[in-house]
Amino acid sequence: MEVLDYLIDSYGRFKRLLVKPCGGVKGEVSISGAKNSALPLLAASLLVEDLTLENFPFLLDTLYALKILKLLGKEVELFPDRKRVRIHGGITSTRVPLELASLFRGSILFLGGLLGAVGRATVSPPGGCPIGSRPIDQHLKFVEHLGGEIGFEGGYISVNLRARAKRGDFTFDLITVTGTENALLTLAGIEGEHTLRNVALEPEVLDLVNFLREVGINVETYGRTMKIEVPPKGKLKRRLTYRVIPDRIEAGTFLVLGGLLGEPLRVKNLNTDHLRVVIEKLTQSGVRVNVLSPSEVEVFRAEALRGIDIETAPYPGFPTDMQAQFMAMLSVARGDSIIVERIFENRFKHAYELRKMGANIAVEGNTALVRGVEGLKGARLKATDLRASASLVIAGLIAKGETVIENIGHLLRGYEGMDKKLRGLGCEVELV
Ligand code: EPZ
Repeated sequence: MEVLDYLIDSYGRFKRLLVKPCGGVKGEVSISGAKNSALPLLAASLLVEDLTLENFPFLLDTLYALKILKLLGKEVELFPDRKRVRIHGGITSTRVPLELASLFRGSILFLGGLLGAVGRATVSPPGGCPIGSRPIDQHLKFVEHLGGEIGFEGGYISVNLRARAKRGDFTFDLITVTGTENALLTLAGIEGEHTLRNVALEPEVLDLVNFLREVGINVETYGRTMKIEVPPKGKLKRRLTYRVIPDRIEAGTFLVLGGLLGEPLRVKNLNTDHLRVVIEKLTQSGVRVNVLSPSEVEVFRAEALRGIDIETAPYPGFPTDMQAQFMAMLSVARGDSIIVERIFENRFKHAYELRKMGANIAVEGNTALVRGVEGLKGARLKATDLRASASLVIAGLIAKGETVIENIGHLLRGYEGMDKKLRGLGCEVELV
């Protein structure tokens, strides 16, 4: 069996995580490369002949993406010990198989990658976390605006840009992360000057922008406007090595854990710049966070956590991907907290699981009222999406009694070696 299939199989065989109560976490944890940066960069590998990605996170979503690249004709070499992958060679197919695309949201990025590389793509609506309807109308509106022909057949969407591609000057109706990334990837293949307005500015989007700059494409940002200047293909770099930024959501997850159990906990290889609002909210709720350097912080268990209010928003606002972990923490804070979810319409499923542990959380529409309780108790839970699963792990560690989290595949899709990292800090968790 090939290494890639072996790794996918070995993660895929785990069904649940057993979590024992943890008295405290001590020592240090090193943050992996960002999943949501690695995915657009993997799609961008289609634009060049030979790309090596460093600080690459080996987790299910990125492994699925590598499998797609292989099916598109690319050679893929894995170096898990060195956190590195190399993707090289040409493209022999422009069809992203439905079975793989349906496994993760990031698969939609191959639309932009293929359009940028060869002007044609056949993809299917992506899968991923069930946190709302998650349409891709903005992605398609953008390619239509470029003059792309769009066809729908047998669950697939085919786009052909070649014949009518023109200068891109486009305003998004709403701020979309992968929508902005797909537009950038597509435009990378169209020589000339383009403008995108109302773009997403998440660090992962800007990581793709930096990558494109390395390739030789000039991208300038002015507020939420991006000007993109694409030189003739012959002038672009074809071989390069690029380093993935640290995963701010994994880092934020460990910061929350440290706020509950840190004795203290040292979190290394993060980018504190990307975590400003998360650190601010932790501090507001009574957690002490010592920033030791731009890439290292120390976080202490709070003497008494206070309830706080949170409202998710596009970056630089509070990340929707940190909402569930904060909810777990605030469920044992003193007083009330109000959490408003502004990005996804159905991202409170973890609240019902936390309630099984004794949390007092009322949900109405996109608002959750969390009334702090003394403590949580272990329970049999179900992970409903990626970040929800992280919140349940945190809750399980602070609870009295053992917790079993079913459906743990979600966690493995987005966190690299979470179980090993937790054991390294003294927690008793086991994937089975
Ligand atoms: C990205 O999803 C991330 N995924 C998500 O990470 C993250 O939660 C989200 O951005 C917001 O930060 C990846 O990067 C692979 P959006 P994306 O398009 O791009 C609506 C995680 O846990 N919308 O910015 O799919 C949409 O329904 C995950 O790692 C449209 O209406 O999110 C949502 O309400 C989960 N039409 C809002 O915009 C569109 O065409 C923002 O979604 C596109 C989006």
